[in-house]
Amino acid sequence: TIVPVILSGGSGTRLWPMSTPEHPKQLLALTADQTMLQLTAGRAHGAGFAAPIVVANAAHADEVERQLGAVGADPQALILEPVARNTAPAIALAALAVGGGDTPLLVMPSDHVIGDVDAFHAAVHAALPLVEQGWLATFGIEPDAPETGYGWIRIGEAIGEGVHRVARFVEKPPQAKAEAMLAAGDHAWNGGIFLFRADRFLEELAAFEPAMLAAAKAAMDAAVREGTRIYPDAERFAAAPAESIDYAVMERAERVAVVRVAMGWNDVGSWDALHAISAQDDAGNAHRGEVIAIDTQGCLVRSDGARVALVGVSDLIVVASGNDILVIPRGRSQEVKALIEAMKRD
Ligand code: GDD
Ligand code: MG
Repeated sequence: TIVPVILSGGSGTRLWPMSTPEHPKQLLALTADQTMLQLTAGRAHGAGFAAPIVVANAAHADEVERQLGAVGADPQALILEPVARNTAPAIALAALAVGGGDTPLLVMPSDHVIGDVDAFHAAVHAALPLVEQGWLATFGIEPDAPETGYGWIRIGEAIGEGVHRVARFVEKPPQAKAEAMLAAGDHAWNGGIFLFRADRFLEELAAFEPAMLAAAKAAMDAAVREGTRIYPDAERFAAAPAESIDYAVMERAERVAVVRVAMGWNDVGSWDALHAISAQDDAGNAHRGEVIAIDTQGCLVRSDGARVALVGVSDLIVVASGNDILVIPRGRSQEVKALIEAMKRD
């Protein structure tokens, strides 16, 4: 069986004011009644899947447990990071927790939406035979914009049914390069979901990031365990270089495969992205919470309590959360990140 590894360590800032360090994006119900974490657990549940291993920030332990318990997806292990060291060390902890070996790990970000779960499962199963032979697999999304915030994959030769060799992996390219790759037509976005054997991932780390592997091992050897909770040793884990799996392994490894899949994938990276994937009324509005809107068009309004009233406005994003209110024109939600920086300075 496949062991899902859910990464829940991000502190998404682009969905402020709903997403905050205390309640990051993955712990919020943004696209459905369930939170992004619950939806993630739900799509790797049932036949063929073991209970998940969740790697999360120690500060979120109770909330993560509560959310997973509420949907019957209790983790087999909840690995609680004392500090964030990015995704490669987090995945190393999970691979060590299963004891290496040939167990296939399905590494999933906790903050994406996948509309077509059947297509996702089919892609996972298409990758499995090569993964069992030792390949690292990733999932390729058809690109429709020159995104600089994603990893890009140049599709190489076919090596299986719907599976190709990764000819080149380019993490977060500059604009001009992203435009060239989009125009070339033979590239996919990296979906950030990976499937590989635990032992193979650890071998790649041993080759490319030996200090990271050593730190993760030392932290796990000295970990404190309480039931399913695992607390890696803080000082030893902090010694791991903070590096993403993309830079640490995917860009460098030899046997990397990509499964191209159309599954309604979206990483919900901004309020604009959320507007685009939300159910909209005839005027293009998508509202949640107590919202009164008269003669409005193309607006996204979200409120977690406050009553929000709008008259005669178009193409606005309005988000009310606790004591914070965001108002920004649609199309500019990438600037929320800069806004947070500015607020930090004040
Ligand atoms: N446990 C843990 N610890 N999880 C983490 C940490 C950490 O230190 N850092 C990030 N994560 C989680 C995030 O919560 C998210 O679910 C996932 O790991 C990916 O991290 P991001 O920080 O969101 O990565 P990214 O969006 O910049 O880039 C990745 O995803 C893109 C697709 O959305 C890359 O894989 C890109 O290549 C890819 O295109
Ligand atoms: Mg992301």
